Amino acid sequence: MAPDSPVVEDDALSAARTRAAALGCPAITPGVGAALRFLATVLRARAVVEIGTGTGVSGLYLLRGMVADGVLTSIDVAPELQAEAKRALRSAGVAPGRTRLIMGRALDVLPRLTDGGYDLLFVDSAQADKADYATYHDEAVRLLRPGGVLAFADGTGLSELVRAVNADDRLVALALPDGLLAAAKV
Ligand SMILES: C[S@@+](CC[C@H](N)C(=O)[O-])C[C@H]1O[C@@H](n2cnc3c(N)ncnc32)[C@H](O)[C@@H]1O
Repeated sequence: MAPDSPVVEDDALSAARTRAAALGCPAITPGVGAALRFLATVLRARAVVEIGTGTGVSGLYLLRGMVADGVLTSIDVAPELQAEAKRALRSAGVAPGRTRLIMGRALDVLPRLTDGGYDLLFVDSAQADKADYATYHDEAVRLLRPGGVLAFADGTGLSELVRAVNADDRLVALALPDGLLAAAKV
């Protein structure tokens, strides 16, 4: 794909995106998907955490960048959306062992995950409030390995979050297209 070409989505992604629209759960844009896949590829990501499974659009992009036996841990409070995501992942041919779908609030689940055990943490829980973002930020620094990346969908629109990430000398931040805010752990 040339850098200025639109991202063309295959049948599995299109179906997951259609379900997302029908269920009122906005999926990431194709541009954010391409950026996530790129990040997972350069990181050679083996272990990724996602907050906000939705119908599986972002999960499919992440898995397509991760190493072949990498595992995506994806958290969502909505069981009906995770069931949709499970269907989307299976219909895309993703082996069951490559995903760990956890139902629950991210604030309850993240503390159970291993320190330094993850290459990438992607936050896409649209309803999060400011306190949630502050906790995700802190938890990400704990969970990521050095060189690992924290990415927030719609993060560049949240001035308080941008300020906090920029002020954190444990992170190196970068604004990416379509509002994606990324930060690498030093
Ligand atoms: C914007 S949608 C995610 C879309 C998905 N990333 C995609 O691209 O297909 C936001 C999701 O976050 C979930 N969510 C909201 N608050 C949450 C929380 N505190 N913990 C975990 N998931 C949450 C919602 O149920 C919803 O499925």
